[in-house]
Amino acid sequence: MTTNIVILTGAGISAESGLGTFRDEGGLWAQHRIEDVATPEGFARNPDLVHEFYNARRANAAEAAPNAAHYALAELEAKLDGTLLIVTQNVDSLHEKAGSKNVLHMHGILAGALCAACGHRWEAPAVMAKEDPCPACAAPQTRPDVVWFGEIPYEMERIEDALSAADIFVSIGTSGEVYPAANFVSHADYIGAHTVELNLEPSAGASRFAEVHLGPATETVPQWVASELARTNS
Ligand code: APR
Repeated sequence: MTTNIVILTGAGISAESGLGTFRDEGGLWAQHRIEDVATPEGFARNPDLVHEFYNARRANAAEAAPNAAHYALAELEAKLDGTLLIVTQNVDSLHEKAGSKNVLHMHGILAGALCAACGHRWEAPAVMAKEDPCPACAAPQTRPDVVWFGEIPYEMERIEDALSAADIFVSIGTSGEVYPAANFVSHADYIGAHTVELNLEPSAGASRFAEVHLGPATETVPQWVASELARTNS
């Protein structure tokens, strides 16, 4: 019997790879104001500050290596008798570096550049600057291809279709503070999927999950993947 699994990941899955989370003690939102570095208004006000913020995160992400949690999800995708879609809120590429193929970046990706004038997308250089000309229209309006607050996350229809067909929904390393991702568990529960949270501490939506395992992702994710492969491939 094949199993359809949708997995939502957040900053917590990359924490043990050395990439900062947002809302933990000393996290990114304790160091920077969201309205300055993660909104279209902030970018219009001071594009240099925004590029500086994402250039630093792009450099960190380029140096970072996947951890046991990323590798466990890649193993699950390779061995599962069924389908696996990873919907990540993360803009790093650690799922892909670990070997996962079916990854959807709903908040965009640091490795991507976007032209605010014509919508052209290309591979971001290591360091971006506001005067970089767009390769397609030459306008000096290039930005990181990252979804900011007040903007629409990418591929929501594809995500909703996957949730509607899911047998299992797993949420890993996210605080459940940001919508629409924080609502995925309700959608999964509504269609009768089994819901699992793997997190360092209970998220804002913990009570909506049928199964919760607390601990670092490098422990909880490999354990859960091993149990799931034993169950579905038996
Ligand atoms: N293992 C598992 N979970 C962890 C670990 C770890 N080692 N370290 C931290 N966590 C958990 C925290 O307990 C917290 O619940 O990861 C979560 C991180 O929460 P946030 O910092 O809010 O990150 P995230 O949920 O991904 O934020 C969602 O908000 O700012 C926007 O666009 C940004 O994509 C981001 C979105």
